[in-house]
Amino acid sequence: MNSDLALFLKSSEEILGGENVLSIRNQGLSNILKFSVDWRKKFFGKPLAVCFPNSSSQVSELVKLADKFNVPLIAQGGNTGLSGGATPSNDISQVVISMSRMNSIRSIDIVNKSLTVESGCSLRKLQDFAKNSSLLFPLDISSREDATIGGILATNAGGLSVLRYGSARDLCFGLEVVLSDGKIWNGLKSLKKDNSGYSLKNLFIGSEGTLGIITAASMCLYSEVLDRETYFVITRDITATVAVYNELQKIVNDNLTAFEFMSSDAIDLVMRYFPNRVPNFIGNIKSKIISIVELPRTNLYKDECLTERFEQLISSGIVFKWGFCKNKQATKLWALREAITYASAENGQQVKNDLSLPRSSISDFVTSVRKSILPKYPRVSLINFGHIGDGNLHFNVSPFFNEAFQKKEDRWKAHEVFLKKYEEKIRKDINDLVVDFSGSVSAEHGIGQLRREENIRLKSDVEINLMRGIKQYFDPKGIMNPGKLI
Ligand code: MLT
Ligand code: ZN
Repeated sequence: MNSDLALFLKSSEEILGGENVLSIRNQGLSNILKFSVDWRKKFFGKPLAVCFPNSSSQVSELVKLADKFNVPLIAQGGNTGLSGGATPSNDISQVVISMSRMNSIRSIDIVNKSLTVESGCSLRKLQDFAKNSSLLFPLDISSREDATIGGILATNAGGLSVLRYGSARDLCFGLEVVLSDGKIWNGLKSLKKDNSGYSLKNLFIGSEGTLGIITAASMCLYSEVLDRETYFVITRDITATVAVYNELQKIVNDNLTAFEFMSSDAIDLVMRYFPNRVPNFIGNIKSKIISIVELPRTNLYKDECLTERFEQLISSGIVFKWGFCKNKQATKLWALREAITYASAENGQQVKNDLSLPRSSISDFVTSVRKSILPKYPRVSLINFGHIGDGNLHFNVSPFFNEAFQKKEDRWKAHEVFLKKYEEKIRKDINDLVVDFSGSVSAEHGIGQLRREENIRLKSDVEINLMRGIKQYFDPKGIMNPGKLI
């Protein structure tokens, strides 16, 4: 270990107390493994140490040290990201700053519908806290138990309620950030309107820890939705799914709270690994698409209007089957939707995508991929699911399941061989089409390591140079999460 790294470690132990610095030398890799590998087990790092500060001033002291000794820092929340954005490099030179001890909710303003929370607070804790005050923190993702508000803001996460409430950025009033020289920027105002210059918070949101470390945030709350209606709709293809979405939004004046879709290949995957999560009442949906439609129950949209429209959509051949879900059925349908990522992780690696497209182009995009890209490769399953109302497809390409690979270990090995050979090519082919259809290669998962090269390849020089200029200004020594995003 070079002397600068040794001095950094010694000084950080003095600041945090020895028990709050786990180093690879003292504890060994196995004890810090959970901070070193991403959730999808695609990126394997070896950090010099993992530090656990308990306040913004401790983070500030650590960053000052890192600035002095040139030590790269990776802020990490629940480590649930899907793009390798919070995984350190494997050369034992970087330090993970775990925000797990900074998990308190500092204050709530019920009249203003806002709260101030430390960045290591889990999404679940934040949602429950709001609920206890009869309010709603609407952002929701399946990793809610572990995902933290800092990681959610750093990646501008989206999830299941973006359609009605927006992404993390839309729910954030202000931030507290430790800058790369250790200074603390306090931008924790809770204002709906603030036109007093450049929007600094919007630079840090979605910057994946490359500009500074988010230590706290002021977030926006909504009124609780006490009663929701949930329907399932089965369509023959994605074109019909988009058509149903448009028809329903017309009836409810754009007031749907969710419109999520799952292809039958995605459901097959859940059936294989978590059969209890596939409810019987949806019946056989072979080669079809099932969507979850959710809206607040109000007197404005009478059940009869929706029933009538669903029946018309059946007559015109757009809808194959639909149904109203009673409470328990709705819970089961959402459990199915949330199981797809877990079933995918059980199955093996995939070419994971997080595309966003204008909704008007989704149908042509999917047709083009099926016609001109997939036939070039060995047989694959298209694990297509996600947030159709937001134009966000998790358009994941998985090696076709072969009965010979029943054992997880063999299957994972076979998937790795497939990915080594084809991942880059498939990703490029798909991304080129995304650009042709004016889409984006990341809708809600961020760029991280997974999409860094592709993002740089696909953006214009003007845009990349602007981003590089911003990075250079905020982090001249390059110690803030290097090797990610830009
Ligand atoms: C989801 O929508 O379930 C998540 O973004 C997770 C995923 O893409 O796997
Ligand atoms: Zn998603």
